[in-house]
Amino acid sequence: MSDREINVVIVGISIAGMTVAKAVAALSKQGYPNLRVTAIDKNEYYYHAIGAPRAVVDKEFSKKLLIPLKTLLRSSELDPEDPKHQFIQASVVSVTKNSVVLSDGQTIAFDYLVLSTGARNKVPAHYQGPTVADAQRHMSLINDNVQRAKDILIVGGGPVGVEIAGEIAFAFKDKNVTLVHSAERLLPLNFKPGLSNGAVDKLERLGVKVVLNERIGIPSDTKFDCSIRPLTLSGSSGAKYSSDLQILTTGITYESDYLRDLETALNVSLRHSNGSIKVKPTLQLDCDSMSNVFVPGDVNSLPAGAKYAVKAKEQAVSVASNLALMIKQGFDIDQKNAPDLSEYTGGEMNMILVPIGKELGVFQALGIAFGKSFVGNFMSSKMKAKDYFVSKFAAEFES
Ligand SMILES: Cc1cc2nc3c(=O)[nH]c(=O)nc-3n(C[C@H](O)[C@H](O)[C@H](O)COP(=O)(O)OP(=O)(O)OC[C@H]3O[C@@H](n4cnc5c(N)ncnc54)[C@H](O)[C@@H]3O)c2cc1C
Ligand SMILES: *[C@@H]1O[C@H](CO)[C@@H](O)[C@H](O)[C@H]1NC(C)=O
Ligand SMILES: *[C@@H]1O[C@H](CO)[C@@H](O)[C@H](O)[C@H]1NC(C)=O
Ligand SMILES: *[C@@H]1O[C@H](CO)[C@@H](O)[C@H](O)[C@H]1NC(C)=O
Repeated sequence: MSDREINVVIVGISIAGMTVAKAVAALSKQGYPNLRVTAIDKNEYYYHAIGAPRAVVDKEFSKKLLIPLKTLLRSSELDPEDPKHQFIQASVVSVTKNSVVLSDGQTIAFDYLVLSTGARNKVPAHYQGPTVADAQRHMSLINDNVQRAKDILIVGGGPVGVEIAGEIAFAFKDKNVTLVHSAERLLPLNFKPGLSNGAVDKLERLGVKVVLNERIGIPSDTKFDCSIRPLTLSGSSGAKYSSDLQILTTGITYESDYLRDLETALNVSLRHSNGSIKVKPTLQLDCDSMSNVFVPGDVNSLPAGAKYAVKAKEQAVSVASNLALMIKQGFDIDQKNAPDLSEYTGGEMNMILVPIGKELGVFQALGIAFGKSFVGNFMSSKMKAKDYFVSKFAAEFES
């Protein structure tokens, strides 16, 4: 092994990026002192999206979901005070064959690149701003509006819509909450019908009006920014839905626009039309001349049923071990002496725990759905509804 520096650049420091960053930093202490990690995120904090449903109704809790990356990195192998590794708060706007370009024009060279920029939900599941203070201000506005609203329409009955409906109805007994979903049952269709039946039942116990098989027509100028805006929308059945605050929980935006220049330069398409980044089974970028680029987490082209933190983490573990193989072998992209990398075979999520307010919830594992049963309530309130795993994730990242 030569003494040359090996630069591993990781863009997007959340579940996937943090996991790879920590593994590579650990490797640098195990006989690879010339390994350097550069961790880049556009925000100064890790955003714990999993807890967003509670944040919508609880201002104090919303602050807990914004954990400064400096704090997380300092207590891990990736000490930002260690001059070898660094954290840069900046947006990556472009990628070349051997560097990433930041919004201020600065370029950072890489030998290995990890793209873990995720996929964005809409507000309130995703509240924004580069600093903790910005994001807190944004959520605080949303909290005030939700508190003032009388009739709330939630469009989309996936886990995010169900959890938000449950939190609002549990926290504010006097509001009209309507949840409208286009499919015949709530929650992803790879889970059992009993899970949906239980979710409908438990939401209705909290006073939520649930409408299935109904597609809401959305005029293109509809904002869905969680402001107070009296609006009447029509469903495919012809029914009208009047509300003063609307929440849209369908559709995600892949964070991958920074690949456009590279696509032009290489004259290839590195992304699907929905913006997801194409990957090989090894989670390498699907581009033979750039086999030193890996894409774990929500931003890659694995099916929608893999867009879970649990899966992002599994993928990151697989990427970290493939990266370690390449680094140990002294992979050289021009000599094409690539080691045998392992393929990621994690598939789709087959377990789910969905809180419906603080006391109710539904749960499926090992092919058994606990819908109407008290088991879902018990699992949810004991395991998830207290803090939506925020302390667990923070502790895991810090160690
Ligand atoms: C409301 C809600 C509830 C959820 N509940 C669960 C659950 O219970 N269980 C579960 O397993 N999963 C859950 N998920 C899914 C989970 O949050 C995601 O699967 C997970 O966050 C994906 O992690 P990631 O690291 O791939 O990307 P993300 O968490 O999306 O992070 C991407 C990072 O990249 C950064 N970034 C983006 N673009 C750039 C750029 N151009 N330059 C620099 N940085 C950039 C972002 O700032 C961000 O930090 C939930 C999601 C939501 C929205
Ligand atoms: C809820 O809706 C009903 C009609 O469906 C209406 O009578 C009632 O005033 C509404 N309550 C609130 C708090 O807006
Ligand atoms: C780009 O690729 C397409 C087909 O993939 C080809 O037709 C075209 O000539 C290429 N353009 C350049 C400039 O190489
Ligand atoms: C985006 O496209 C890819 C490839 O066609 C697909 O696997 C993925 O499920 C799509 N994403 C969503 C959210 O539909």
